[in-house]
Amino acid sequence: MSDTLSAESISRGLGTRMIGRNVLYYSRVTSTNETAKQEAGRGVREGTVIVAGEQTAGRGRLKRTWLTPAGNIALSVVLYPKKRVLPSLIMMASLAVSHSIETVTGLETQIKWPNDVLINGRKVCGILVESDVRDEKVNYAIIGIGINVNAGKDVLSGVQFAATSLNLEAGKEVSCLDVIRELVKALDNLYSTISPGGPVFSEWRNRLVTLRKKVRVTSGREVFEGIAESVDADGSLLVRGTDGSLNRIIAGDVTLR
Ligand code: BTN
Repeated sequence: MSDTLSAESISRGLGTRMIGRNVLYYSRVTSTNETAKQEAGRGVREGTVIVAGEQTAGRGRLKRTWLTPAGNIALSVVLYPKKRVLPSLIMMASLAVSHSIETVTGLETQIKWPNDVLINGRKVCGILVESDVRDEKVNYAIIGIGINVNAGKDVLSGVQFAATSLNLEAGKEVSCLDVIRELVKALDNLYSTISPGGPVFSEWRNRLVTLRKKVRVTSGREVFEGIAESVDADGSLLVRGTDGSLNRIIAGDVTLR
């Protein structure tokens, strides 16, 4: 689809309160999260959105790489939030992605703990939140979002997990511009309601496909197996082991069994 991505086409008539009032577009960067960090270091306006047509060294969770060839979305948002809302940012990001995909394509999405967005059980989006916190002060938080929009099977076969893209699921090309604009609006809307344990948490929890399933969670060197019972307002996953113990997992990779 011949979308013309530019700061102007993304921000035109968006009407958002904070996120997306300033948009920076680059045809190619190493990583939008890296660009966002540099901008945050210079004190760029809160809610600035950085979008790239391509990333050459996109970063994933747990020190993985993330591929963004042209035709896909790589976007980062610079925020200066209070420390108490930091855990809610990954919830808000995965919800905003779900809302935007559903609005533009009509496809149904699921969220796999903590923040992978899936379509038909395959990962279509990855989210990486990076922050700089000193004592109680958050110097910045960056929400990085990568969505496979028009990635073909050739690109997706190179990744380690079951992946998909919007065009494969929709059976037609999907407009990156439409998804980005809906995503920015959804982020802005959800950020205005954010509070620990508030509506963003409730909707995120209700959309998690992980809950009540048998799971295997790798967290650093530890592996937990059991039933994913619930999540806490800080985003941690509570897994009931086969011996009856309840394990609280703050970060990790889940395999549904
Ligand atoms: C994951 O491992 O699932 C998270 C992937 C996050 C990728 C996005 S793409 C935009 C932003 N810039 C990066 O370098 N990474 C994030």
